[in-house]
Amino acid sequence: MNFLPSGICFYVSVAICWLPAKVHASRWYMGTLGSQVMCDNIPGLVNKQRQLCRQHPKVMQVIGAGVKDWISECQHQFRNHRWNCNTMGRDQNLFGRLLLRSSREVAFVYAISSAGVVYTLARACSRGELNTCSCDPTKKGSSHDAKGSFDWGGCSDHVEHAIRFSQIFVDTKKREERDARAIINLHNNRAGRKAVKRFMNLECKCHGVSGSCSVRTCWQAMADFRHTGDHLRKRYNSAVQVAVNQYGTGFTAAHTHFKQPSKNDLVYLEDSPDYCIRDQDSGSMGTGGRVCNRTSHSMEGCEVMCCGQGYDMSRVSRTTKCECKFHWCCAVHCRDCHQQVDVHICKGQT
Ligand SMILES: *[C@@H]1O[C@H](CO)[C@@H](O)[C@H](O)[C@H]1NC(C)=O
Repeated sequence: MNFLPSGICFYVSVAICWLPAKVHASRWYMGTLGSQVMCDNIPGLVNKQRQLCRQHPKVMQVIGAGVKDWISECQHQFRNHRWNCNTMGRDQNLFGRLLLRSSREVAFVYAISSAGVVYTLARACSRGELNTCSCDPTKKGSSHDAKGSFDWGGCSDHVEHAIRFSQIFVDTKKREERDARAIINLHNNRAGRKAVKRFMNLECKCHGVSGSCSVRTCWQAMADFRHTGDHLRKRYNSAVQVAVNQYGTGFTAAHTHFKQPSKNDLVYLEDSPDYCIRDQDSGSMGTGGRVCNRTSHSMEGCEVMCCGQGYDMSRVSRTTKCECKFHWCCAVHCRDCHQQVDVHICKGQT
């Protein structure tokens, strides 16, 4: 649904309007047309979700603005992979027809997107950007950890609230409407949401005579989203292929000698395409034009990355900062160094 001047709405684990670059245009849009129009134009929403969307336009906006963050995390995790989490641009949805399958990669997309929504939402709450939520109200009074007792202070990220909101929003599809793929998506969404909660750190500030730390105030803060990304990437590697039972109520490992998936595992139904050639129908962009590493034998190696289609070499000049010197006080001066490097690029359709 391409109805914004420079944005799109799509539906991964939640409906998301993506408003790139021109933040002001998006504000203008939201202000002029209102959330009603936005929510009515997101494909794939059921009534309950449209209602929630209209009731919380600000939340939708925050979630939309956070999309670029989890997409770039996804792209970071798969930078050396044939499938590199690239987006299709202004298509029906960001990942084109990729999401119509239930592959391992789609499992990852669902998990990281719902994790991203939780992360974005909890952060916006802590920053006071939304009037429907704030810091975790249960973190008050005193408590203790391995180092002794402390007082809750500052602002603890309210991840529980963010999980609840996105859960209500995501899991409202009627039971009858759930097909095998929907069951799988819901599972991966949940695994993604839970992943964020794993990476909460207790951060503390010391008080007391000359920093003696006799008194501490602490708060629970979400770790950098990279931790969640790394974790989900590991789950991707160990994702379990499953088959949905005949009643459509659950699933079991597709191969009896495989382990049964737990709540934290990513699951998928279908084998992935090899992503070697460009194929709109499977959401594959192909690897033509991708940079590869000639000496590596793993995924980023030219043999694997280029699918045996060969590669070209070009010599490019890179400029880096070098011979940096520290000048009192306080500046660092560097020289620009030029370096010739060989870059290998997969042949094929770009
Ligand atoms: C290419 O792969 C080799 C071997 O894995 C590694 O040592 C090297 O740093 C890689 N080069 C680049 C540019 O990533």
